[in-house]
Amino acid sequence: MGEYVTLHYAGREFQLPLVEGSQGEKAIDISRLRQDTGLITLDPGFANTGSCRSAITFVDGERGILRYRGIPVEQLAERSTFKETAYLLINGVLPTQQEQTRFSVLLNDNSLVHEDMKTFYQNFPRSSHPMGILSAMVNALRSFYPEIQNLEEEINITVTRLLSKVRTMAAMSYKISRGHTVVYPRPDLTYCANFLNMMFDSPVRPYELDPDVVKALNVFLILHADHEQNCSTAAVRVVGSARVNLYAAISAGIAALWGPLHGGANQAVIEMLQDIVVKKNLGQAVARAKDRKDAYRLMGFGHRVYKTYDPRAKIMKRMVHLLLEKLRLSDPLLEVALELEEIALKDDYFVEHHLYPNVDFYSGIALRAIGIPTNMFTVLFAIGRLPGWIAQWKESMDDPDWKLCRPRQVYAGPAERPYVSIEER
Ligand code: CMC
Repeated sequence: MGEYVTLHYAGREFQLPLVEGSQGEKAIDISRLRQDTGLITLDPGFANTGSCRSAITFVDGERGILRYRGIPVEQLAERSTFKETAYLLINGVLPTQQEQTRFSVLLNDNSLVHEDMKTFYQNFPRSSHPMGILSAMVNALRSFYPEIQNLEEEINITVTRLLSKVRTMAAMSYKISRGHTVVYPRPDLTYCANFLNMMFDSPVRPYELDPDVVKALNVFLILHADHEQNCSTAAVRVVGSARVNLYAAISAGIAALWGPLHGGANQAVIEMLQDIVVKKNLGQAVARAKDRKDAYRLMGFGHRVYKTYDPRAKIMKRMVHLLLEKLRLSDPLLEVALELEEIALKDDYFVEHHLYPNVDFYSGIALRAIGIPTNMFTVLFAIGRLPGWIAQWKESMDDPDWKLCRPRQVYAGPAERPYVSIEER
């Protein structure tokens, strides 16, 4: 018999098996807990709950390690492309030359968006947030591309469609929001170059692709490509567990990512830094973030899993410096961000709470340099996270232990009481 922990309850002894992950992480298997003991667990925010076994991404929050399918994110950011990393996450291995070519062809073949979808975009109010639009439009894809009966074919085509079309849809929403002509995808361009071209090319000013900018976008997307069971991925898995179609599950992930505590933090960081620059109140911002009575937080700081410097933030910070240098740009927000980081990392509150910059702290500065408008930042995060969501959804569909997600609760409401008619109340 393997290892187990013993639970003493109601005068009896229960043995709960321990399971061990491939990196030595241990977990108590409580799948029979209620059946055997009548007890459930209570874990708000699931901070101590492993929801699945997964072979996709490994994060060690204490040591600042992040690996996709075993490969350190630093190596992928340095040497891979987003397309190749997406393939790795979804298929478990890096593609051969032939597989890579086939993947590119499929992505190109699926890059166009149904023309009728344009009218949807045109009818959203101009002030709509692009994340709300993206979530709605991804859900709408099912209506435009009905289910194919052959399950394997259905999954393969849906995955490729999403990877390719979400990028086109994101650029399209930007163009339409500005009242400009939509730029169509070009099969001669790489994944990231194509996105940049669709965003910024125009009949009056052709967009000149800069390899440094293309590289920076690749790095940005690779750093966001997966992060194990985060809020939006959990949303994709939970919604997917009802056996809903993949478009609807991804749409739920996009909605979750929009929140400022999750992917929306990249927009919130820039708004915070801009506010600090305008009000010249860096010291006050730090003081407010430390004040328990004040809901204000330093956006781009802290993480549920990382209790040390987020490895993605390290790469992002380096990349921002390189990018600004190559583009010969200076950004006053970078100065403030660096100062803020320096103050926070020396401050007892941040040290004791293990609060370090996370991936969102410097990413907005890179996106600004590329020319991406602030309200599109989280859309870029969504494009990056898409392969992760898809890989996690696929893994859950193939997992014999995966069930309909349906947590329990500890009921804290009133005991049974009779209905009282309105006249008697
Ligand atoms: N500024 C000030 N205090 C903070 C911050 C912050 N950014 N983050 C956490 N704390 C404090 C919090 O007040 C609490 O203090 P105390 O124990 O004294 O009451 C303690 O740290 C623990 O906070 P928590 O909210 O219980 O921790 P969590 O694991 O639930 O929160 C978090 C993680 C990311 C929601 C939080 O750190 C936060 O709100 N950060 C700012 C938003 C942000 O940057 N989000 C992006 C996360 S990385 C991208 C992604 O993967 O989503």
